[in-house]
Amino acid sequence: MPVQGAHIPALGFGTYGMNGPHLRNVLVAALGHGFRHIDTAQMYGNEAEVGAAIRDAGVSRSEIFITTKVWVANYGAAQFAPSVDQSLRKLKTDYIDLLLVHWPRGGAPIAAQIEGLNRAVEQGKARHIGVSNYNAEMLRTAVKMSPRHLVTNQVEYHPFLDQTALLRQIAASDASLMAYCGMAVGRVFGSEILRDIAAKHERSVAQVVLRWLIQQPRVVALSRTEKIERIAGNAAVFDFALSEAEMAAITALRAPDSRIVDPGHLAPAWD
Ligand SMILES: NC(=O)c1ccc[n+]([C@@H]2O[C@H](COP(=O)([O-])OP(=O)(O)OC[C@H]3O[C@@H](n4cnc5c(N)ncnc54)[C@H](OP(=O)(O)O)[C@@H]3O)[C@@H](O)[C@H]2O)c1
Repeated sequence: MPVQGAHIPALGFGTYGMNGPHLRNVLVAALGHGFRHIDTAQMYGNEAEVGAAIRDAGVSRSEIFITTKVWVANYGAAQFAPSVDQSLRKLKTDYIDLLLVHWPRGGAPIAAQIEGLNRAVEQGKARHIGVSNYNAEMLRTAVKMSPRHLVTNQVEYHPFLDQTALLRQIAASDASLMAYCGMAVGRVFGSEILRDIAAKHERSVAQVVLRWLIQQPRVVALSRTEKIERIAGNAAVFDFALSEAEMAAITALRAPDSRIVDPGHLAPAWD
């Protein structure tokens, strides 16, 4: 997806909660099945395995889009750049495709976060920058402050969570929404509507949800699985399309109180 000069692959592979040799094997399989975007974070403690897997897979670095996130404890002026250097060393690369700040609260103010991100681009350590878990107002403020374009806001998004307000601000900011928790920690698999649509297309519910995400303007989807046998299916979401009625039926699954990831000390007042 082209966003202000950044070509963000519309489907990324999420690595939260995975590490060690298993993550290496899973990522080699994901790269083998065509994933070209890997999402990691300083907080996940697995950047070294991500770097190792990219080398194991034998895919050229220039073909892979790496997103990583600076942890809140590293937002201070003295910690930000050294933490990015450490990410680069662990990832065994000399640039990060997309550098995000992980949460808006719990570290330094937004101005310091935006300053650190911009410095990373100036110093050639990051190609593109963005934020994660910002609400619409924070995104508006950050975009105004940032000399360089903020290309994404990575947030929770699935059929049960209404992100209309944030998507409106994302369009106004010419950014993208990078969706995490697409499977709503498994809740999607219990939906009869999703199961019916999946059966009609002879696809899995996971494929239908990923397709619903990437078929929306400005939405990038992250997919995570620890099971190698599920990777090929999760990657195969570019060879079918949902009808307008199916898109609308999935969007209509939205319901109040559907947010899953909400750590009080880090999260904003959500839209
Ligand atoms: N910025 C942030 O604060 C933040 C927060 C949360 C997540 N993230 C990022 O977003 C990524 C994705 O989010 P997520 O971890 O919640 O992933 P997700 O894709 O929403 O859900 C993963 C869950 O779905 C299951 N699953 C995946 N494919 C399946 C399939 N084909 N059939 C049945 N079950 C399937 C997985 O189980 P199995 O492993 O057993 O297949 C796992 O339990 C994370 O890995 C991370 O990189 C970012």
